[in-house]
Order: sequence, then C-alpha cells, then structure tokens
Amino acid sequence: MQLSDSLKARYLCLQILTGVFKKRKSVSHILESQRVSVSFYKDSDVAIAKRLSDFIFLHLNSVDYCIDLYVKKNIKLEVRNILRLVVAEYVNKGCPDYAIVNSAVKLAKLNKVSSFFSGLVNAIARKLVLNLRKNELVFKPELQANFRINLRKYYTEDVIQKLEKLITKRAPIDITISDKKDINFFRKQLNAIELPTGTLRLENSKGFAQLNGFRTGKWWVQGVSSSIPVKLLGNIYGLEVLDLFSAPGGKAMQLISAGARVTCLDLSLKRIETLKQNLCRMNMEAEIIQANIERFRTEKKYDIIVIDVPCSSSGTFRKNKDLLHLNPTERVYSLKKIQAYTLEAAKAWIKDNGTILYCACSLFPEEGENQTKKFLINNEDWMQKVICPAKFDLEGDWVDKHGGLRLRPDHLFDFGGMDGFYASLLIKK
Ligand SMILES: C[S@@+](CC[C@H](N)C(=O)[O-])C[C@H]1O[C@@H](n2cnc3c(N)ncnc32)[C@H](O)[C@@H]1O
Repeated sequence: MQLSDSLKARYLCLQILTGVFKKRKSVSHILESQRVSVSFYKDSDVAIAKRLSDFIFLHLNSVDYCIDLYVKKNIKLEVRNILRLVVAEYVNKGCPDYAIVNSAVKLAKLNKVSSFFSGLVNAIARKLVLNLRKNELVFKPELQANFRINLRKYYTEDVIQKLEKLITKRAPIDITISDKKDINFFRKQLNAIELPTGTLRLENSKGFAQLNGFRTGKWWVQGVSSSIPVKLLGNIYGLEVLDLFSAPGGKAMQLISAGARVTCLDLSLKRIETLKQNLCRMNMEAEIIQANIERFRTEKKYDIIVIDVPCSSSGTFRKNKDLLHLNPTERVYSLKKIQAYTLEAAKAWIKDNGTILYCACSLFPEEGENQTKKFLINNEDWMQKVICPAKFDLEGDWVDKHGGLRLRPDHLFDFGGMDGFYASLLIKK
C-alpha cells in the first residue's frame, strides 16, 4: 500500500486502535507484527502513533463523549476509531484543522468498511474540529472500569487513587549503571535523581540513546522495580545462571555485570535480536538459546534460575496504557499455565543448593504470590527464602508477610512511582 509520509503515523495509530479494541492484542504485539510486515515505519511514526493512541487509551470516555455529541446512531468501530484519532490529534495540536480532516477522510477511504462512510467521517470530523475549539472540554484520565475492578480486589481505594494520579504523569525513564562506582558520575552528567536502590531516574527522557554512556555501554534502560529482583540474589560472582524469558535482557545484563556466567532463553527471534544488540553494546557475552520453554530440555544444572515470566504486565500499565482496555482476567487465565509449568520444570535444571528467582511485572497475585504458594504446596522439599528489606535498601512494606517482594506503582510516590512487580526466592530445604 502507498501511504504519504504524513499519513503513515496516523495509519499506524489506527492499526493500534483496531488491534487493541477489536483483536484484543497488546500494543507491543501489534508493533512487532507491523514492523515485520511493513518495514516503512520510521521511529518518529511509531512515536507519534503511540502518543496519539496513548491519549485515546487514557481518555477514552471523554473522547467518545465528544464524538457522541454528533453521531445519532451506532457507528462502526472502524469509523469511530478514525474519529477518535481526529479528537486526539486536535487536542494534541499536531497540525492544522484542515489537515486533520483531510487525513481522516483519506484514512477512511483506505479501509473496506470505513470507505462507505468517508462522507460521514468528513462531516463529523469538521464538526469536531470546529466545536472542540469552541468548547472547553475536560479530558478526564481514568483507569478503565474493568482494570479498576480487578485491582480493587487486592488493593485499597487509597492505593487505587494514587495509581489514578500517577497514570496522568509521564512514565519515568530509569537506568541501571553497569559499574556501581560510576553512579555518582552519571547522576551528575545526566542530571538524574538517584533512587534509594541505586537506580538513576532521568529528568529529561528525550533521546536517551544520545546521552553520555549509552552507546559506550555504561548503562542500560531498566525500570527501578525490575532492577530489584536480581539484586536480591546477593553475590553471584562466577555462578552459572539460566535466565528464562530473557529478552530484551535487562536482567541478563545485571547478572553478567555482577560476574555471573549466563545462559539466556527466549522464544521470540525479534526480541532475541534486541537482546543480542543490547549485549553487544554493553560488550557482554552470554549463551543464547532460542526455544519455547515447553520444548526446552537440558541435562545441565545451574546455581541460579531466573524466571521472569510472561504475564499480564499489569504492573506496567503506566507505560502501556493499552492494558487498561485488555481484559486482564482473560489474559491471566492462560498465562498462569506457562508460569506454573516453568516453575515446575526449573526444578530439574537446578543444583541441590541452587536458588530459583521467580518474578512477574504483574499487580495480580494470581501471577505472583499465588504461584509461589502453589509451588510450595506441591513441593514440600522447597521453601521460600525471606527477603530482608534493610539488606537491599528496600522499604519494610515492600516485602510481604511470606518474605516475597511486592512492589506497587505508588511506591516511591514522591519520586514519581514505579512499575508493579513481584519476586520470590525459592530454595531446597
Ligand atoms: C517479561 S518478558 C522478559 C523480560 C526480560 N527478562 C528482561 O529482564 O528484559 C517475557 C519474555 O518471555 C518470552 N516468552 C514468552 N513465551 C515464551 C515461551 N513459551 N518460551 C520462551 N520464551 C517465551 C517473550 O518473548 C518475552 O521476551
């Protein structure tokens, strides 16, 4: 398909909206498949498409309210998505009104369903840009009902309200410095804040790849919460580690920089490519296995197995606003199986005195606390090693009553919060 440069980002935004609202796919999944099949998107197209779609995901009710002022009956999703894009573009002031309307009509003509309604799109898009200018509309961000209801099962109203405040703020960019001795240097160089656990938080996240130390492999981007689990392993110098679900390699790079000999396993070729690029930039080496965990077999035994499971990623909803619209219950149901399978399988690959580090960037106990509990019930010769918060510069309430790490987005609230994360350490009795 021939698309003008000005239409590409908008077209990609529509692919994202269709993928999330119709096919129930996550944005990262959609982008991965789009980039493979359509190699003509530039990074700037992806950034614009993501910015516009994020606006829609976060303000869906307000955006639809604007549209519904001008449509009398139900409209097809394909048409509604184009009009949602019109509202998002108008509010985000990307280009003149006539260009917003023109591109909406062109986009409508590109799709079999919406092409029948290009006249309607034209009429409503014109009304929207005219009247949005007149009306002082309030775009109210919100956790979507489904997501909120699910979280409310486990977290207090006070916590949820804090999450609602945080979601309106830009997700921060955190970095892990490879050599601890360099933390102070890069804190000053990059004008960063040092968080209590040693992660640096960048004040200005734009163009981080150009910043001092990135290309030369002095640091990598890693959210503070996902950097904590590996630290719980203590001194791992010289140990053999199997890093399951390894790509894009945040934890692998931590393990290697701590002196471990690491074997990485992941299913996705595309993500393994990113892992390889990351290791190459950091001048690090690891054995890399591309395999489905369910088919993976080995006779080798490891000192440590890191299991950073595929999960609902609900802890990262601030970065991935599409998650607010993807029914978490549906996704957790199938993911729980691979999580439990991997925990059981890992027993065969660990040395007798070895440690399993289980972790998930999820806020739902089904993928975290309950998986640990189930594993311990089924394996009476295993126990949970209690994490001591003071030893790792953690706050006391980040560790649950069983000794597992439970991080919530409202932790470090005054610094701008963090992703939700769970981790537990499992050892043989
Ligand atoms: C949470 S991410 C891992 C993040 C990584 N540990 C890090 O720190 O950068 C989950 C990974 O699991 C991989 N994955 C999903 N299903 C898999 C399977 N059946 N077998 C192997 N890897 C799988 C995905 O490709 C993805 O890279």
